[in-house]
Amino acid sequence: MNHFLDIHKTAPADLRSMIDTANAMKQARNGRPRGAADDDTPLAGQMVALIFEKPSTRTRVSFDVGVRQMGGETMVLSGTDMQLGHGETIADTARVLSRYVDLIMIRTFDESVLLEMADYADVPVINGLTDRTHPCQIMADILTYEEHRGPIAGKKVVWSGDGNNVCASFLHAAGQFGFDLTFTGPAQLDPEAEFVGLARKSGSTIEIERDPVKAVEGADLVVTDTWVSMHDSQSTKERRHNMLRPYQVNEALMAHAKPDALFMHCLPAHREDEATSAVMDGPNSVIWDEAENRLHAQKAVMRWCLGV
Ligand code: CP
Ligand code: NVA
Repeated sequence: MNHFLDIHKTAPADLRSMIDTANAMKQARNGRPRGAADDDTPLAGQMVALIFEKPSTRTRVSFDVGVRQMGGETMVLSGTDMQLGHGETIADTARVLSRYVDLIMIRTFDESVLLEMADYADVPVINGLTDRTHPCQIMADILTYEEHRGPIAGKKVVWSGDGNNVCASFLHAAGQFGFDLTFTGPAQLDPEAEFVGLARKSGSTIEIERDPVKAVEGADLVVTDTWVSMHDSQSTKERRHNMLRPYQVNEALMAHAKPDALFMHCLPAHREDEATSAVMDGPNSVIWDEAENRLHAQKAVMRWCLGV
């Protein structure tokens, strides 16, 4: 069964073929009217369940549109409306949904929910973000980087800020796509040591540098994300902001990266916190392409999951 649970759990050749498919499908759509179905409709007759236990704009809309462009149908389910949010087990939910739908995408809190869903479902399951990782985002980010700058292998990516779920999937991607990653942020918010170790074992150079200026020297890509994620308690907001303020991505910091270094942010952003508008709307920012590419990358992920 081709579940798409995490980047480090997916073979590099499969990841590469998904990026190639995404690219080809994006090109094929160029110049076509907005909203038209693709020429190729590999999901015709297929039903996709999109389960959200957390808010979402990009993931929700890009999956929904992507399925429809490929000729399939979707059902968007909120965790609280389902019996899942009222005591039915994940395993039982997975068994039941498998009798109705062909593919399940779930955004949830604890990773164990995703893993149990995948264990008990008879259909492929896609990780649409957990507290721990966000693999679909990073597939879009790889597609975006390569569209603008060519192969990402051997490049230097700098993550500035919180070593969170999106950072974790970037670490996984470093190992699988062969790029180097420097994390710069406060020690309390370091990425998980297990993920750092995994990326290093794959041959990538992974550095932890507390000084953001030193960290971004020679960077080909600078990435950041919100300082308070959906799973973080709002009561930690002030403390997190105080710790993370030195790691804001602003023009002064970007000036230490390579002149053609790209800037990415998965969005939603808190402008003037983790990144300034001058950077987000500046010439090196590719945040809107990144958001668009969620659509193309996930279409390729779904095709891979379903083998169509
Ligand atoms: N980047 C991302 O996953 O955005 P949403 O939370 O809007 O889905
Ligand atoms: N780290 C963020 C990403 C949102 C897409 C969160 O988990 O809230």
